[in-house]
Amino acid sequence: MVDARQAAYLEALGIDVYVRRGLAPKPAVAGVIAPDTVSGDSRDAAVGAAATADGGDRTTAAPDRPSTGSEALDWDALRATVSACERCALHSTRTQTVFGVGNRAARWMFIGEAPGAEEDRQGEPFVGRAGQLLTSMLKALGLKREDVYIANVLKCRPPGNRDPRPEEARTCRGYLERQIELVDPALIVAVGRVAAQTLLETDAALARLRGRVHGLGARQRPLMVIYHPAYLLRSPGEKRKAWLDLIEAKQVFQRLERGEQVLS
Ligand code: URA
Repeated sequence: MVDARQAAYLEALGIDVYVRRGLAPKPAVAGVIAPDTVSGDSRDAAVGAAATADGGDRTTAAPDRPSTGSEALDWDALRATVSACERCALHSTRTQTVFGVGNRAARWMFIGEAPGAEEDRQGEPFVGRAGQLLTSMLKALGLKREDVYIANVLKCRPPGNRDPRPEEARTCRGYLERQIELVDPALIVAVGRVAAQTLLETDAALARLRGRVHGLGARQRPLMVIYHPAYLLRSPGEKRKAWLDLIEAKQVFQRLERGEQVLS
């Protein structure tokens, strides 16, 4: 059921009331939602042609992933290490690193792809237009930014907002992995195609990755995928599907909090 407060945020998301009332989200989370044709720009479009035949994950750790040496760092040391990082060329074009924000003991962790111009300027993830929509999406879930932890795959802005390069994501990954370990969230939400594909080490299309629960890494941490708010700003027609994904994520979260098995 959607309460009045959520309804206001849904309106802000541009989702019709009748759609909300008619929702019949699946209680189970296993399985793949029928593939959609997702189109968008280079940051958020799905790589449809490259989707794996079975929609499965390839979550084995890349043997060539360089260590950032951050495996045992505490929050302060990790933040300091990231601020001083010069492990890839992006350090030379950044204004500052964008570490992460929110509740360090959060049960939800949202992971986007990389800082944009506004994030590079302010030093905080998801503070531009897309970030404002993400904040509305959180509110629709009954969450405040301070309740969750928000980070990105990359800590530095790629020039011109281009997609992160695989080697940049590999080089930076240890920082994110340490953040995930320190937060130890119940549920990770990959925001958009690039974050999802990078985290899950797959080239499956976003349409195949959303609507199910993935296991991340050796610990098989529950991870779900949602549309990137920047994509939703460009493709408002997809907001209904985005809302379904949020409802499903909330259901999975509630099941996790009850100690239930959620992995597909
Ligand atoms: N898009 C992202 O993926 N992350 C941000 O921090 C901002 C926009």
